[in-house]
Amino acid sequence: MPTQLKEKIKNKKAIVGIIGLGYTGLPLALTLADAGFLVYGIDIDQNRVDLLKKGKSYIDDVPDGNLRSLINKKQFMPAVNYDIFKNLDIVCICLPTPLDKHKQPDMSYIQAALDEIKKRLRRGQLIILESTTYPGTTEELFLPQLATSGLKVGQDFFLAFAPERIDPGNKQYSLRKTPQVVGGITKTCGQLTQLFYQQIIDQVILVSSPRVAEMTKLLENIFRVVNISLINELALLCGKMKIDIWEVIEAAKTKPYGFMPFYPGPGVGGHCIPVDPFYLSWRAKEYNFFTRFIDLAGEINELMPHYVITQIIWALNQQQKPIKNSKILVLGVAYKKDIGDTRESPALKIIEDLLKKKARISYHDPFVPVLEIANQKLKSIKLSLRTLKDADCLLILTDHSNYNYEDLARQSQLVVDTRNAVKNKNLKHVFCL
Ligand SMILES: NC(=O)c1ccc[n+]([C@@H]2O[C@H](COP(=O)([O-])OP(=O)(O)OC[C@H]3O[C@@H](n4cnc5c(N)ncnc54)[C@H](O)[C@@H]3O)[C@@H](O)[C@H]2O)c1
Repeated sequence: MPTQLKEKIKNKKAIVGIIGLGYTGLPLALTLADAGFLVYGIDIDQNRVDLLKKGKSYIDDVPDGNLRSLINKKQFMPAVNYDIFKNLDIVCICLPTPLDKHKQPDMSYIQAALDEIKKRLRRGQLIILESTTYPGTTEELFLPQLATSGLKVGQDFFLAFAPERIDPGNKQYSLRKTPQVVGGITKTCGQLTQLFYQQIIDQVILVSSPRVAEMTKLLENIFRVVNISLINELALLCGKMKIDIWEVIEAAKTKPYGFMPFYPGPGVGGHCIPVDPFYLSWRAKEYNFFTRFIDLAGEINELMPHYVITQIIWALNQQQKPIKNSKILVLGVAYKKDIGDTRESPALKIIEDLLKKKARISYHDPFVPVLEIANQKLKSIKLSLRTLKDADCLLILTDHSNYNYEDLARQSQLVVDTRNAVKNKNLKHVFCL
């Protein structure tokens, strides 16, 4: 291993740059700064950088207090440009990897950063890609472009893939407690990357190549999407068979081995589960291979928002009400509980569809004060006895903690509950998925 960088990492003297200060990049930057590294952040969003400089966090899991103290101490310094790049010893890339409208990888964020990096790459730097992506990205997209600098990988500079595993809102598994997988282009690249993460994470697993690390991350997310779609499909069937899927899952969960519970819902959301698996199905086609499980899972999960709409129509129908002009109060618009992330949230699709059907929509979400949807700006309303009584239907899309759902249900005229939030099954005006 190159002694200089190795010693700098061990002594926390390596200067680290984090490109992309979002859900994954900001917590990583602060964990590194907390551990004693000098950390620079690079993000093209001026508004975000201005907030950070004032010690204001825009990520639910990142409290202002710690951020402010690291900013005041100049242990963490955010900027909108790459001016600092030459001074960095280690660079972690935490940029979005979305899909385009044809469900193909949109690598434009990564490429934009790569354009900046390749102009500035210098001897001795370690570059780590954290963004979820298709197997081959580090070797086939990054390596050739960085090699145009004339520097040799494994000798002059170092390159690795280390997938981010953050789970927003998860209080049990912090960054330190979540094992990190790393794969380097060369043995030295891998070892340096492993040593780096060992400074902040309890367990770091070195695999044989970036490809293996890239595929590992995808396997984790594909495992989730396939199992979620399986349980969604069974929920649809149980609905027809008049079997309570939630009770079935609770019972199956008592098996101490060989079963892991997944829960049905209004559809999948977030930047990972509805997106990442399609990076693999796209790549697989190059090998004349069709990833049927992934595509089928996508298809079933896409059905769920429509199923919820059908349930609302059915439930309103029981009360002789058409969907048109009915007042629907949506509870929770984030894609999962206790966070404010609405990216790919099924709530967006459901609300858009309800608006098209001329329902009158209001929503309440303590984590999402404003929601821009179908060229409208909706504001989260206060939950009160009056707003609940006034709504023709309370639609529970996200089961944020700290609500007494049974009380809310009792105060409502009609409830469609997509999360089994209302546990009391004797309430006849509650329709559960
Ligand atoms: N959010 C999650 O829960 C999660 C979990 C695991 C893995 N991931 C993966 O991590 C990666 C990043 O996701 P995220 O949720 O942190 O994204 P994010 O959208 O929250 O943050 C990305 C940040 O990058 C900035 N940015 C965009 N282009 C830039 C550029 N050219 N230079 C500098 N900054 C730029 C944006 O302004 C934004 O602040 C994705 O590949 C995602 O799949 C996300």
